[in-house]
Amino acid sequence: MSRILVTGGAGFIGSHLIDRLLSEDHEVVAIHNFDPYYDPEIKRKNIALFQGHPNFRFIEGSILDRGLMDRIISDGVEYIFHEAAQAGVRVSVENPFKPHEINGTGMLCLLESAVKHRVKKLINASSSSVYGTVVYLPFDERHPNIPVSPYGATKVLAEHYVRVYHEIYGMKTISLRYFTVFGPRMRPDLAINIFTHKALKNEEIEIFGDGTKTRDFTFISNIIEGNMKVMHKGTGVYNIGSGKRCSIRELAEKIIEITDSRSKLIFKEPVKGDAMHTWADISKAKKELDYRVDVGLDEGLKKYVEWVIETDFS
Ligand SMILES: NC(=O)c1ccc[n+]([C@@H]2O[C@H](COP(=O)([O-])OP(=O)(O)OC[C@H]3O[C@@H](n4cnc5c(N)ncnc54)[C@H](O)[C@@H]3O)[C@@H](O)[C@H]2O)c1
Repeated sequence: MSRILVTGGAGFIGSHLIDRLLSEDHEVVAIHNFDPYYDPEIKRKNIALFQGHPNFRFIEGSILDRGLMDRIISDGVEYIFHEAAQAGVRVSVENPFKPHEINGTGMLCLLESAVKHRVKKLINASSSSVYGTVVYLPFDERHPNIPVSPYGATKVLAEHYVRVYHEIYGMKTISLRYFTVFGPRMRPDLAINIFTHKALKNEEIEIFGDGTKTRDFTFISNIIEGNMKVMHKGTGVYNIGSGKRCSIRELAEKIIEITDSRSKLIFKEPVKGDAMHTWADISKAKKELDYRVDVGLDEGLKKYVEWVIETDFS
């Protein structure tokens, strides 16, 4: 049993991580600031799932509060799963200062306290957005980082801080590059959530661009598995994706079929900052971490649609 800090613990991925860590008898402390980027009520419901658990403690606050981070981490924290961020490509084009502060400065605040209090390992949630412009596909970890959004640039910055702190101080660090994550409790601003709600109401589904952009959609259980694998092995950077890609148009058609919907697709102007393609080469994670993809896109979509019907439509 270890004492583990999960930053951004009330968010989508953070709350799934807490679930798993508590089920494995770890002591979990979570910090979250209930940022209003999306409805904080969703985040409060996520955290309510664990309130009262004897191994769980929640602290409302910001990772930018260095004194607070110091107090939390000095209290015996051994591992950190860093999920707090200003996520979202499009919002970063509108206001690049916010992701820069949270994802860049926030990362530094955490690293400073982690080094000072000799944390055993820090696992940083990075993103496929670090790749940006396609030089070749699928992206392996050596593919150049040419982000096409301020958000992607902040994730490159955070990865460098994590690497540099490892090199200077010898602290074990890892960056996991997640590829478009979906599943129950997912962020409401992501396409799978929007398409599913539109399809269940038989409303038009808007696609930005001509629908030929592709994404490596990764079901949440695979992401959590990847995180568990790196607690005790691995170093550096790993892609954590499904290893397959699907076009946005095909994604919308799959959702329409699963929901038995009469929704029509309509095509809008493409959005600035959106990468053309993402597709993970997961061979490094398979080889070094024994990472496996348990739930693929079709099965994951069915699970997700069932969850949406249960929570929002019944
Ligand atoms: N969901 C995806 O598809 C995806 C893909 C690649 C990478 N990621 C990364 O995974 C991590 C988790 O993403 P998510 O999808 O769960 O997003 P999320 O928005 O649900 O969770 C992140 C949480 O961090 C919180 N936060 C923001 N600023 C904070 C601060 N100063 N102090 C404390 N908490 C703060 C936010 O309120 C938010 O709820 C992020 O680093 C994100 O960039 C996510």
